[in-house]
Amino acid sequence: MTTHYLSGKPVLVTGGAGFIGSQLVSDLLAIGADVTVIDNESRGSKSNLEDVGFEIKDNQNYFNADLRDPENQKYLQGFHTVYNLAADVGGIAYALSQGIKIWKNNTLIDANVFESALKYKIPNLIHASSSCVYPLARSSAHRGLKENQAWQGEMHTLYGAEKLLSEKALQMHVQGKSSTNAAIVRFHNVYGPRSIMKGKGAQVVQALISRALNHPTRDLEVWGSGRQGRDFIYVSDITNWLVNLWLPETNQLPTEPVQRGSGINTPIRNVAQHILDSLDLGIDIEYVPVPDEGEKGRKADNARFNSLYSHLPEALTIEEGIRQYIDWAIAHESWWQETKVEKVKEQVFPAAA
Ligand SMILES: NC(=O)c1ccc[n+]([C@@H]2O[C@H](COP(=O)([O-])OP(=O)(O)OC[C@H]3O[C@@H](n4cnc5c(N)ncnc54)[C@H](O)[C@@H]3O)[C@@H](O)[C@H]2O)c1
Repeated sequence: MTTHYLSGKPVLVTGGAGFIGSQLVSDLLAIGADVTVIDNESRGSKSNLEDVGFEIKDNQNYFNADLRDPENQKYLQGFHTVYNLAADVGGIAYALSQGIKIWKNNTLIDANVFESALKYKIPNLIHASSSCVYPLARSSAHRGLKENQAWQGEMHTLYGAEKLLSEKALQMHVQGKSSTNAAIVRFHNVYGPRSIMKGKGAQVVQALISRALNHPTRDLEVWGSGRQGRDFIYVSDITNWLVNLWLPETNQLPTEPVQRGSGINTPIRNVAQHILDSLDLGIDIEYVPVPDEGEKGRKADNARFNSLYSHLPEALTIEEGIRQYIDWAIAHESWWQETKVEKVKEQVFPAAA
């Protein structure tokens, strides 16, 4: 058996106690990397890491630290690879209402992480970006977004604007100008275990599964026509890629931004139907009118990904991903089970950022 490139190497995951971060930690442990996590637990939690079998040793392989604070740059010293996943994240309603806060938080985090990479000569820095960098006007259910279409118009949120500027900072001041190899990875809408399922922070797949499990006899409410779609990708398809980001021929990281989605625009009504089929509940979908449905659709053109990573497994279909996620959710009731108060306040957002 060949040894993985990261086996035995010190690897840091910022935001590692979060949704994608905890799955990445799980995948890194599986290939024998020596993993450390920094997280301020604003959204992530130690229990996410315990859930994937990470043995937390406080202030040794786990640091509860705020990366907005330049003092905490010191925690980034001595790593072979840093995955920068820490960010202020939420659904579209949060992104639209809290733009300044998100922009400020994420700018500070990214500036501190990038400065540390230069200061400590970190060999590999992998930065999580988002499909929110693409202009709103380019989003379409039919035309796949290409990596070079960022900067070709206005994006929808300051969250997306910050991600795009962070990419630019890496390209202008790190790539080719320092001893750090920096890679930019853009994710479309990620779903799967350990993403938030309750309350306003829940994105659409998560919120619909939670609603169906909490109210198995009530028609499943979808806000809007359900025709608006997104490109949904299962979390392990993202983290397996991140762990295997080095190109097989050269063992180098990609120098251009690379996105990953499923390449398919799935309307929310289809997501709802797959959930009902998986749970076999015998209820219908109820469409609740909303004044603004947001973007009609969005999907990735995966040509760049496919040309670089054809050796990786294909992404799960949405049907299979939902099935696997529901199996996990059924075994993890506390993630979605609503208290009496939550049942009254329950809100589901029709589309996710
Ligand atoms: N989930 C998606 O669909 C998606 C899509 C595109 C891009 N991304 C990006 O992927 C990354 C991970 O996202 P996620 O969905 O796992 O979100 P998440 O909120 O679960 O994870 C982010 C983690 O960062 C931590 N964090 C936030 N502020 C911090 C700070 N100041 N200092 C230290 N830690 C801090 C949070 O506690 C959380 O654990 C983010 O950069 C996000 O922008 C996510």
